Amino acid sequence: MPLTFPKGFVWGAATASYQIEGAVTEDGRGPSIWDTFSHTPGKVERGESGDVAGDHYHRVAEDVASMADLGLDAYRFSIAWPRIVPTGSGAEAGAVEQRGIDFYSRLVDALLAHGISPVATLYHWDLPQPLEDAGGWAVRETAFRFAEYAEVIGRALGDRVDIWTTLNEPWCAAFLGYAAGVHAPGRTDPQAALKAAHDLNLAHGLGVQALRGVVKADARMSVTLNLHQFRPADPDDAEDVDAAHRLDAVGNRIFLDPILHGRYPDDLAANTSSVSNWPWAIPGDVETAGAGIDVLGVNYYTPTVVKFWDGRSPKEGADGGHGGGASPWVGVSDVDFPAQPGPKTAMGWPIDASGLEELLERLNREHPGVPLMITENGMAAPDVVAPDGAVHDADRIAYLNDHIAAAHRAMEAGADLRGYFVWSLMDNFEWARGYGMRFGIVRVDYDTLARTPKDSAAWYRDVIARNGLP
Ligand code: FCB
Repeated sequence: MPLTFPKGFVWGAATASYQIEGAVTEDGRGPSIWDTFSHTPGKVERGESGDVAGDHYHRVAEDVASMADLGLDAYRFSIAWPRIVPTGSGAEAGAVEQRGIDFYSRLVDALLAHGISPVATLYHWDLPQPLEDAGGWAVRETAFRFAEYAEVIGRALGDRVDIWTTLNEPWCAAFLGYAAGVHAPGRTDPQAALKAAHDLNLAHGLGVQALRGVVKADARMSVTLNLHQFRPADPDDAEDVDAAHRLDAVGNRIFLDPILHGRYPDDLAANTSSVSNWPWAIPGDVETAGAGIDVLGVNYYTPTVVKFWDGRSPKEGADGGHGGGASPWVGVSDVDFPAQPGPKTAMGWPIDASGLEELLERLNREHPGVPLMITENGMAAPDVVAPDGAVHDADRIAYLNDHIAAAHRAMEAGADLRGYFVWSLMDNFEWARGYGMRFGIVRVDYDTLARTPKDSAAWYRDVIARNGLP
C-alpha cells in the first residue's frame, strides 16, 4: 500500500557547518571549540578534523545543484557563528565578518533560485573559542552573546530564511560537551553541564526575541531537540520505570518544559540536587526560554532501553551509547543501558522505527498544538563503492523507508508533523567518530572530494516526487 503524505508536507535534507564546510581559516572565520577539540590528540578517531571536511565552502553551487536534482522542498543548514562574529562578541562593524555573512547570503539566494526553502540553524555546536575561554555555556553571558549574533544574522538573512532554528540538540552541547567530555569542549564537570543546559535554554529564548524583532513576519521560530525515547527494560518493574522517568527529566524535559512552557519540571531539581541546587536559575530566565516557538524540531535515530542499576553487577552500557567518556546523565547514576539484540547501524545504534512513532505520539499527547518537524533521521552504513561506481545502500533505504512509515503512522494517530529532513544530504565529519561514519545520501570521496549520489538519493528523489512511499 503506498503511503501518501498531506499536501504541503516538507521533504528536506540536513547538514551542519563544521561537518561539511572546511575552509576553517578562510574569509576571517575565527576558531571554534570544535577546531580546538579536533586538534587535541585523542579526541577524534584517527586524529581527524573538519579542516577540509566536504569542502562545501567552495562547492556550494555543486551541492545546491544536487539538492535541486533531488527535488528538495527545504534545506536545513547551520551557520557557523565564528564566521559571522569571529571572536563571538560584538555586533558592531568591526566585530562582524561581512565575508561570512556573504557566504550564507549566497547560499540562501541559490536555494531560493531553485525553489528550496532555507531552514537555518544558528548553533550546531561551533562555539567561538574565545567564548569558551571565558567560560563557555557554563557562563550566562554566552547566552547574551548568542542573542547579539542572532540579531546580526537575522538582519542579514531575515528577509529570506523561512525557519530559524536557534539551537541544534542543546542536550548534546551541554551534556556530551560539559559532562561526558566526548564532544567539544571536552569538559567533565557535571555542575557545568547543568549550568550549560540552563544557559542554552536562556540563549534560545533571547535568540527568539532578537530574531523576531528583525526577520520577516512570517518566518517561523524553532529549536531542534534530540529527544530520547527512553524505554524501561521491564515495563512492569517500578524501579526501571522510575529510572526512565528520572532520565527523561535530565534528558528531555530539561529542554522541553522551559521551551514549550516556560518552566522547569518539578522533579529535575530534586533529581540533580546531589550535583547542584541550581543557584543560577535566575527568576525570569526560564520564562524567557519560553518565548514561544512555531514548530519543534525533533531528531530521532534510535530508542534507549533503561534499567535500574543495583550498584553491584557490572554495568553493560554506562553512558547509554554516547561514545564512552564520563556519564552524561547528570544526577542519575543508578541506571544501566542493557545491550539490545537486533540490527544496528554502523554507529552501533539499534534500528527501531517504532521509537519514532512513540516519540511523536508522546509529543502530541503531552504537548498538543505544537507543530512538529523531524529535522534529522538517517543512518551510518558501511557503504561500499561497487565496481559500477555506485553505492547500493539498500540498508539505508530500508531504514529511511521504515522511519518515514513510522512517522506516517504517528500522523494518522494525530501527530501534527509538518516535515521530514534526512540526515544527511552528504557524507560528513561525524564529530568524535570522524569520517568513518557515513550518513549521506550523497557520497563524498575524501581524497578527491567528488560527490556521487547513492542509491538512497535516487530513492529519496522518488519519495519526494510522489509525496510518500511507494
Ligand atoms: C546528531 C547531530 C548531527 C549528526 C547526527 C548523526 O546528534 O545533530 O550533527 O552528527 O547526530
